[in-house]
Amino acid sequence: MRKFSTSETDIKSKWGGILEWPLLSKVHRNSLDGRKATHLIRILKPFDFPVMLEVGCGLAEYSAVRKGHYTGLDNSFHYVRFASRKYKDCTFVYGDASHLPFQDSVYDAVLFACTAHHFSDESFVKALKEMRRVSRRYIIIDDQVEWPAQNRVSKFLYGMDRGTNNRTLKDVEDIIARVGQLKVVARDTYKSFPGFYLHGVFVLEVVSHLKEKREGL
Ligand SMILES: C[S@@+](CC[C@H](N)C(=O)[O-])C[C@H]1O[C@@H](n2cnc3c(N)ncnc32)[C@H](O)[C@@H]1O
Repeated sequence: MRKFSTSETDIKSKWGGILEWPLLSKVHRNSLDGRKATHLIRILKPFDFPVMLEVGCGLAEYSAVRKGHYTGLDNSFHYVRFASRKYKDCTFVYGDASHLPFQDSVYDAVLFACTAHHFSDESFVKALKEMRRVSRRYIIIDDQVEWPAQNRVSKFLYGMDRGTNNRTLKDVEDIIARVGQLKVVARDTYKSFPGFYLHGVFVLEVVSHLKEKREGL
């Protein structure tokens, strides 16, 4: 099997690699950063996306937001194996965000959830360009963000994360602008349970799609 190198800010060996154990990761995330999918389902209510891809799908807990077929891609073999056993009606692929093994414009939406902070700015831009290539309509970014009134416990938890590139909402906006041909059609925030993580959500529409719609193609 081909082994993918991790992006330079994703430290899979942190804590002796124990967070690569799916069940431990699940307990850890649900007790400190829980009920995320519920918030995202609410935010995505107005949008239609029958065929979706999640890049950096982990255990595929966000597959709950799907409105049709869901494909998850991750560069952790353990997570992909766990998710494919649990969600039999979904498709899972072991791969890297920087080289998505899919043809152009095959997904209605590509989700990038809780993963951007595992990427350097360069890797994030590269991954977004790949997502723009394979999406015929939306890219949805959901990631933890820093905020001015962030308390010490929250800062401590962000500091313990395997992803080491935490950003502000403005930083994420700047990255989106660098990628280009993406229009922000919705922007929201929510705090996950029990309140230590603030999530910034951006729904982006791929501009080439908007052009085709205007031209009636
Ligand atoms: C914090 S987890 C988020 C998982 C899932 N999206 C969720 O929110 O439950 C980040 C995920 O990104 C994956 N990841 C990190 N770098 C990646 C890369 N270069 N390509 C694909 N997946 C990557 C990790 O293996 C991990 O599963």
